[in-house]
Amino acid sequence: MPPKKKEKVLKTLWINIPKVLKLGWETDNKALVWIFFLTLVWAIFPVIFSYYYKLILDEIITAQNTVGVVTITLISLFAFRYFLDLFDHLRNAFHYEYIERIYWYKLTNTLSYRFSKKLSELDLGHFENSETQNLIEKARKAYNFRVSNFIFFFSYVVGAAGGFIASFIVLLPFGWWIPVLMTISVAPRFFLKNKYTEVEWNVFNLKTPESKELSYLIDVLDDPNSVKEIKIFQAGPALLKRLLKIQNSIFESQRVPLKNYMTSLYIPLVIELSVLFGLAYIKLGPTVAGILTIGSYTFYAQMLDRLSQVSQQIGNQFSRLYENSLYVGYFFDIQELPKLIKEPEPGYEFEEIRPPKIDFNNVGFAYQDGPAVLKNISFSLKPGEHLAIVGPNGAGKTTLIKLLLRFYDPTKGDILINDVNLKEIRSDHWYKFLGILFQDFVKFFLTIKDNIMLGDPKKDDESRMRDAARKSGSEEFIEKLPKKYNQKLGKKFEDAVELSQGQWQKLALARVFYEEAPILILDEPTSAIDAEAEAQIFDNLYKIYENKTLILISHRFSTVRNADKIIVLKNGKIAEEGNHESLMKKDGMYATMFRKQAKGYIE
Ligand SMILES: Nc1ncnc2c1ncn2[C@@H]1O[C@H](COP(=O)(O)OP(=O)(O)OP(=O)(O)O)[C@@H](O)[C@H]1O
Ligand SMILES: [Mg+2]
Repeated sequence: MPPKKKEKVLKTLWINIPKVLKLGWETDNKALVWIFFLTLVWAIFPVIFSYYYKLILDEIITAQNTVGVVTITLISLFAFRYFLDLFDHLRNAFHYEYIERIYWYKLTNTLSYRFSKKLSELDLGHFENSETQNLIEKARKAYNFRVSNFIFFFSYVVGAAGGFIASFIVLLPFGWWIPVLMTISVAPRFFLKNKYTEVEWNVFNLKTPESKELSYLIDVLDDPNSVKEIKIFQAGPALLKRLLKIQNSIFESQRVPLKNYMTSLYIPLVIELSVLFGLAYIKLGPTVAGILTIGSYTFYAQMLDRLSQVSQQIGNQFSRLYENSLYVGYFFDIQELPKLIKEPEPGYEFEEIRPPKIDFNNVGFAYQDGPAVLKNISFSLKPGEHLAIVGPNGAGKTTLIKLLLRFYDPTKGDILINDVNLKEIRSDHWYKFLGILFQDFVKFFLTIKDNIMLGDPKKDDESRMRDAARKSGSEEFIEKLPKKYNQKLGKKFEDAVELSQGQWQKLALARVFYEEAPILILDEPTSAIDAEAEAQIFDNLYKIYENKTLILISHRFSTVRNADKIIVLKNGKIAEEGNHESLMKKDGMYATMFRKQAKGYIE
C-alpha cells in the first residue's frame, strides 16, 4: 500500500529506485546505459569547456605576443566553440529526440503488458474489493508515463549531481567554504518544492474516490447507451451539476496549495541570488589587484553560476522524480498483490478430464466482512447429471457458482470433486473441466470467429465452429452479415456491426458449445433470447450434454423442468430439492412459482 505518513514518502523513493531500474533494465539495458551516459556527458562538458576558456583568456592577456598568436588563439577558441556546440546539439538530438523516445515506447509496452497480465491473473475477489478497485484506478492513471518519467528524471538528477560535484571540486581552490555556502543557500527552495509535491500527491491520493466518480460520470454522459435513458428521463442537468461540483472540489484542493507555494517561493530565491552575487563580488578585489588572473575570475564566476544552475536543476528534477515516485508505487503495489486463492503445491490432477462427481458438504460463504450469503449448502451431483438452480434474486445462486469455479473458497464446509477437495486441485487443471456462460457474459469486440473460438483457443476447428453456431441458433444471423464469420463486432470500431442483445447471447452460447467442456455452467443463458429459439437451443443443449454435467440457473421454469435435479435456493439456504415431478407433488415453493409462471402464460 502507498505510504500514509510523510516521513515514509522519501523512503518509498529509495524503495522505488531499484524496482524501476530493474524494470528499465529488463526492458532495454543498452538504452538505459545510453541515457545515463549522455546525461553525464551533458553534466561534465561545460566544466571542461570553461576551464579551456580560462586557459585561452589568460594566454591572450599575459602573453605579450604578436597579433598573429592572439589571432590564432582566438580562431582556435572560436573553432573549439563551434565543434563543441555542434557536438552538444547532436548529443541533445540523439538523447532526447531518439534514445528517450524509443525507450519510452518500449517501456510503455512493457508496462501495459505487465499491468494487463497481472490484472488478468488477479483473483476475482480483488476486483470485488473497493480498496483494490481504487488502487487499480490510481495505478491505471499513473503507471503509463510516471514510470518512464521516473527513469528520465532519475537520470537527470544523477547528471545534475555529476555536474554539481564537478563544479564543487573546481571551486574548492578558491576557498572550501565557497561551494559549501552555495550549497546551503539552495537548500530552502529544495525543501519547499518537495513539500509542495507532497501536498499535491496527498490531494491526488485523498481525492481518488472523487476522481473515480468524475471519470465515471464523464463515461456515463458520453456513452450512447446511457445517453438514451438520460435524455428521456431528462437526467442530464442533474448529472452535469454533480460533475461540476466534483470538478470544482478537486480544482480547489489543487489551487490552494499551489497558491501557498508560489507566495512562499520568493524568500529562497532572494537568498540564493544574494549569495551568488556576494560570492562573485568578493573575488573582484583580488582580481583588480592582480592576485587572480582575469581568466581565473571568469572561470570562478562561471563555475559559481554553474553550481547555482545545477543545484537548481537537482532541486527541480529531484522534486519531479519525487513526484513521479509517489505515483509509480501504485504500479508495483498492483504487481505485488497477493493471491487470495492459495494454489496447492504440487496440486492434484485427475487422470482423465470427464464429468466428475461433485459434492457440496455444509458449504457456507460470506463476501469479505459481509453477512453469510450461503448457509449449510449440501448436495451431491453424479457424473453427467443435469442440475437446475432456481430461486429469487439475491438468493445466492451466482455466488454458489463462483465457489465451484474457485473464484472464492468457502468460508465453511468443503466442495469435493470425485472425493478430492477442490482446494487441493490445481486450478488450471480444474478450468479444463469447466465451460461457463456468465449472467453478465463477455462481448468480445472482435470477429464472430474469435467470439466462438475463444471458447477453446487451442482447437482452431472451423467445422466445429459452424456446428456450434448452428446449435446456439447464431448461424442464421451470421450468414446475413456482410463478412459472415469474419465480421468484426462492436460499436467501437469501423466496419464493425453491432448485434442485438439476444444475438450476442446466442454467440456467447456458441462459445460454450464450441468448447464442449465436461461440466457446463449456464447462469441465465437465454434471458435475452426469444421463446422459439430458446426451446431449440435447449433441445440441442440436452442432446450435446446428455452424458455431461450441466448446471443451469434460470428464472424460466420451462427450461428447468427437464433437469435431473432441481435445487430451490432461498436466502442462501436450500429450501427444496428434487426433480420437477417430486417438487410439484410436494406442492411447496417450487410448485407455487411454477404455477404462477404457467398461469401468466396461459391467461
Ligand atoms: N461481490 C459481492 N460482494 C458482496 N456481496 C455480494 C457480491 N455479489 C453478490 N453479493 C450479495 O450476495 C447475495 C447473493 O447474490 P447472488 O449474486 O449470488 O444472487 P443471485 O441468486 O445470483 O441473484 P440473481 O437472481 O439476481 O442473479 C446478494 O445479497 C448480494 O447482495
Ligand atoms: Mg445471479
